[in-house]
Amino acid sequence: MTPDTLVSTGAARLAAAGIDKARAEARLLLAHAMGVARDATLTASEIPPDQAEAYERALVRREAREPFAYITGHKEFWSLPFAVGSGVLVPRPETETLIEQALDFYPGHPHGLAIADLGTGSGCLLVSALREFPASLGLGLDASREALKWATRNGMAYSLSARAEMRLDHWDAAPAEAFDIVFCNPPYIPSADIPGLEPEVSRYEPLGALDGGPDGLAAYRALGPVLARTLKPGGHAFLELGIGQADHMEPMFRPHGLEIRRIAPDLAGIPRCLVLGRP
Ligand SMILES: C[S@@+](CC[C@H](N)C(=O)[O-])C[C@H]1O[C@@H](n2cnc3c(N)ncnc32)[C@H](O)[C@@H]1O
Repeated sequence: MTPDTLVSTGAARLAAAGIDKARAEARLLLAHAMGVARDATLTASEIPPDQAEAYERALVRREAREPFAYITGHKEFWSLPFAVGSGVLVPRPETETLIEQALDFYPGHPHGLAIADLGTGSGCLLVSALREFPASLGLGLDASREALKWATRNGMAYSLSARAEMRLDHWDAAPAEAFDIVFCNPPYIPSADIPGLEPEVSRYEPLGALDGGPDGLAAYRALGPVLARTLKPGGHAFLELGIGQADHMEPMFRPHGLEIRRIAPDLAGIPRCLVLGRP
C-alpha cells in the first residue's frame, strides 16, 4: 500500500476512536513506523511489510487511546526530546513556564546553582534547568520507581550523570538548606475529577502523578514545610499550579515563612507558576 492510503485508512480509524487531529497523527505514526521524518512519508512510494505491520501496531495502540508520546517513545519539552513511556507523566508544554520563570529570576545563566526537582517524573524540569545553568548540580527525587527509570535514562541521554542525581525517594527526604532553586510540578487534580479526564490521562498516566487528593491541594499542603527546610536562605521555589488553584496558595506557604514572589501565567493566560522565596 502507498503511504497516502495507509494515512487515510489510519486517520479514519483514529477519528472513529475520538481522536481530534486524526490525519496528522496517522501521518506521524506512519513516519514513526518507517523510522523517518514526517515529510519523508510524503515522497515514499511503497511501504515494506514490516513497516506496515509496525504502523498497524501503533494504530491499534492509539485507537485504544494510549498517549501518542508513549507510542513514539518521546515528547519534546523546552525544545529537547525526552524519552517517555508507561509509568511516567508525559511532559506538558505549560510546565515550561517554570523554566521560563527560573530564567527570569536567575538571569544571565549563572553557574554553580544547586537545583532540586521534587517529583521529577521524566526529569524534564531538572534536565532542562541544568542545561540552562552551567556547572550547576541537581537532585531529582521521585517516589515512583517506574518514573525514576525514565528520569535516569533522560539524565544519561543528556550526559548529566555527573551533575544530576536521580533518587528514588519521597520529597520529605530532600536535604536541608541545600538548594538555590527547587522545582515541583506536584499531582494536583482533585481525585474525583480523574475518571472524567481524557482516556489518555485517566487510563494510562500514573495515578501518583495526577491525584492531588479530595481538593487537589494535598501536595501543596505537604510541600510547605519541605520547601521551607530544603531551600537555602534567598532561594526560590517554582511550583506548577492547576487551574483555579492560585488563590489557595498563600495559607499553604506563608505559615512556613515562604513569601509569594509571583504567580506567572502560562501561554494560555492561566496562572501556572507559583514563585516562592525563602527570605
Ligand atoms: C505531575 S508529575 C510531574 C513529573 C515531571 N516533573 C513533569 O513536570 O513532567 C508528579 C511526580 O511527582 C511524583 N510524586 C508524587 N508524590 C511524591 C512524593 N511525595 N515524593 C516524591 N515524588 C512524588 C510522582 O511519582 C510524579 O512522577
